[in-house]
Amino acid sequence: MSAPTTTAILIERHGPPAVLVERRVPLRDPTPGEVQLRVRATGVNFADLLMRAGLYGTVPPRPYSPGFEVAGEVARVGTDVAGWREGDRAVALLRHGGYAHDVVLPAAQLFRYPERLAPVTAAAIPVDFLTAWVALFEAARVRPGETALVLGAGGGVGTAAVQLARRHGLRVLGTAGTARKRTFVVEQLGAELCADARGAWEREIEALVGARGIDVALDSVGGRATAACRRLLAPLGRLVFYGLSDAMPGSRRSWLRAAVAWLRTPRLHPADLIQPNVGVCGIHLLHLRAREPLLRPALESIFGAVLAGELTPVVDRDFPLNRDGAMAAHRYLHERRNLGKVVLVREDIT
Ligand SMILES: NC(=O)c1ccc[n+]([C@@H]2O[C@H](COP(=O)([O-])OP(=O)(O)OC[C@H]3O[C@@H](n4cnc5c(N)ncnc54)[C@H](OP(=O)(O)O)[C@@H]3O)[C@@H](O)[C@H]2O)c1
Repeated sequence: MSAPTTTAILIERHGPPAVLVERRVPLRDPTPGEVQLRVRATGVNFADLLMRAGLYGTVPPRPYSPGFEVAGEVARVGTDVAGWREGDRAVALLRHGGYAHDVVLPAAQLFRYPERLAPVTAAAIPVDFLTAWVALFEAARVRPGETALVLGAGGGVGTAAVQLARRHGLRVLGTAGTARKRTFVVEQLGAELCADARGAWEREIEALVGARGIDVALDSVGGRATAACRRLLAPLGRLVFYGLSDAMPGSRRSWLRAAVAWLRTPRLHPADLIQPNVGVCGIHLLHLRAREPLLRPALESIFGAVLAGELTPVVDRDFPLNRDGAMAAHRYLHERRNLGKVVLVREDIT
């Protein structure tokens, strides 16, 4: 009998979306405590683009498959696995490897998702909603009545953050780069204002909330945007930094552009935070995975709110989970056209 294999979309070399390849790769047996998950849908994240371009820090040796989150069903169960059976539906958080038809992973990385959710919706939830959750409730410790600014409010994490903040009773302002996104963020998600990310958004926001009128700024852009967020922070305001999108404005790696974004991002000495009474913190969801006791109840609560209609994962488009689909999805994100999430979906199984 030939050894089992699966199909995966791989990064073999760094570059634009066309470097992605599709290959049959060996599929190992689950070891004790592991399961094999048959993937039905995979969430696409901005970090996948950074990985492909060679701008992401913590990656395995190439070739490897990107993909931090998948939804599917358990296909095989290793020994010493309690609570999971073949056929169970689950989402999983991964360090990489989700652009594949099957993944083998520790059962501890699985989360149940409600029957009523389609895999495409379930796969759109974990990274975006947990990142926004951790930023708002764990890092910034937001309180009802505070004012939050969400950069990239029309993106995956952004649309989740606006909704979570509104649901918690915050006044929310955002930025987004297209009229389609800005209208959606205000009219559908309940932000008070969504300023043009490519325009004079700092002035627009200050005109509305006054000087230093932002309690919490969620910043995934970096560069000059971080300096603007810092200026807008109210006394006892908190800036949560969780991405440097500004480092990659195009679909190829540019060390020069990445360096400019890096250098434009303010260096903050703790002493600089005293007089203005502001705080800065960073979050990285992947490096929080060990804190399962925090993430598991958060995700359960998020799924519950989605079922109750209080939160809506905004899935803009899905593409097939194959090389062409992954390339098209990456290009779509590079062009900043996505309103919310983009998901890769298996079309070869029903
Ligand atoms: N630290 C963590 O744990 C964590 C977890 C998830 C995501 N992130 C980070 O959060 C950010 C958003 O991720 P996402 O998956 O939600 O991505 P996304 O859906 O593509 O949203 C990113 C948004 O950022 C804006 N943006 C600003 N500069 C950009 C650029 N140079 N290229 C592309 N978009 C740019 C775009 O909005 P406009 O065009 O409308 O301005 C876009 O809607 C990324 O920086 C990502 O690395 C961090």
